[in-house]
Amino acid sequence: GLKIAVIGGGSSYTPELIEGFIKRANELPVKEIYLVDIEKGKEKLDIIYNLTKRMINKAGLDISVYKTLNRKEAIKDADFVVTQLRVGGLEARARDEGIPLRYNVIGQETTGAGGFAKAIRTIPVILDICRDIEELSPDAWLINFTNPAGIITETVLKYTNVKVMGLCNVPIGMVNNVAKLLGVSSNRVRIEFAGLNHMVYGKEIYLDGKNVTDVVLEKLGDGGLINMKNIPDIKWDTDFIKTLKMLPCPYHRYFYLSDDILKEELEGLKKNKGTRAEQVMKIEQELFEKYKNPALDEKPEELEKRGGAYYSDAAVSLISAIHNDKSEIHTVNIRNNGAISSLPNDVVVEINAVINRAGAKPVVLGELPVQINGLIQQVKAYELLTVKAGVTGDYYTALMALTTNPLVYSANIAKKLLDDILLENKDYLPQF
Ligand code: NAD
Ligand code: G6P
Ligand code: MN
Repeated sequence: GLKIAVIGGGSSYTPELIEGFIKRANELPVKEIYLVDIEKGKEKLDIIYNLTKRMINKAGLDISVYKTLNRKEAIKDADFVVTQLRVGGLEARARDEGIPLRYNVIGQETTGAGGFAKAIRTIPVILDICRDIEELSPDAWLINFTNPAGIITETVLKYTNVKVMGLCNVPIGMVNNVAKLLGVSSNRVRIEFAGLNHMVYGKEIYLDGKNVTDVVLEKLGDGGLINMKNIPDIKWDTDFIKTLKMLPCPYHRYFYLSDDILKEELEGLKKNKGTRAEQVMKIEQELFEKYKNPALDEKPEELEKRGGAYYSDAAVSLISAIHNDKSEIHTVNIRNNGAISSLPNDVVVEINAVINRAGAKPVVLGELPVQINGLIQQVKAYELLTVKAGVTGDYYTALMALTTNPLVYSANIAKKLLDDILLENKDYLPQF
């Protein structure tokens, strides 16, 4: 049977993941699940551990569940390590989203300056985790969910020997949303994805193998909604979609509709709605109240208020495709290896790939269309600089990273942002 280590086990998303293992118990012989957290997350870990045991019991499965603050014990001989941690917790996220707004820069926890701050806090931790994997379970697959997932996966790929795939629920969410727009079930829809994490495009869309890209784009231009719970429901302009000729991802709103998003974020602050972090703190509290109830033995509906919908489907079906050598197509963050010829071979891209025991083989796409090539190149440059800054702690690389980010509109603002970020995250930045 398989040993699974979940780093950040106290996450409110863990019941989602557990539900995935339960649903796929017939194809995935999980024997042990280790939930790992840190001292600060101990109370959440306890609640999640108890709920997990009730869920597994209800399903009548013979899976041993462990909770531990000892990461090495969890990683030792694991077959799969799933990372879903948040360095600094939601308080740090609130700063990631809040600091940029001081300078009229979009505050988002995975893109822009907020994503940069989250990345440099997380990089030292993910490197530590990878040292443990290299030592204690060198054959394990790391399935990284930790944001910014593209940058964190790029760090693992460049600076460790760990086998890694980065995962996001956006592609699977887009497939499900497109299916809804078409009024069909998701398993009939296939999208050719290309790009970066939270910067991915649906290049072509197929229904039962037939190309329906035009039909979907027309619906999207007509006000059809494709989104995630954590992003404002701003509609796309008809003519923009016509000229883009591809399906943007929900996060593209930050880049193509920056003014609307910024306005929405600033108004939210004025109306005391708080940033998304502050909203999530409330949702999380409600969730954990539910999770504590000894009568609860399944994933509660309220989890759908979070942006991480379909996480379990994405993660557990991916793990099953690897373990069962399925050679099935999944959308993952992996080494480009020439699949997108307008990007270097050794950078991480979010792309469809054939998944089996040997790993992921990206579907070859050739050059990116001119209308998206520039933005992707620029964001990748920002990501590479961020990885380097996060690993080395070099101030000037960090400054260049932020300056290169398309959401940061001036080098002077980049410097102010960087200084605030470094100061207000100093407890989490041993490398600087
Ligand atoms: P959370 O704040 O609940 O954090 C999860 C757990 O990580 C907490 O219990 C915390 O104590 C723990 N943790 C913090 N530092 C740790 C460390 N060094 N070692 C082990 N555990 C540690 O966060 P969440 O909302 O559950 O999200 C978790 C992560 O998943 C975040 O990075 C988030 O951005 C990411 N996420 C990714 C996607 C995606 O599409 N890839 C979707 C949703 C969430
Ligand atoms: C999804 C993304 C995640 C993101 C999360 C936020 O949109 O794919 O990467 O971090 O949801 O959800 P939350 O509920 O925490 O705001
Ligand atoms: Mn994501």
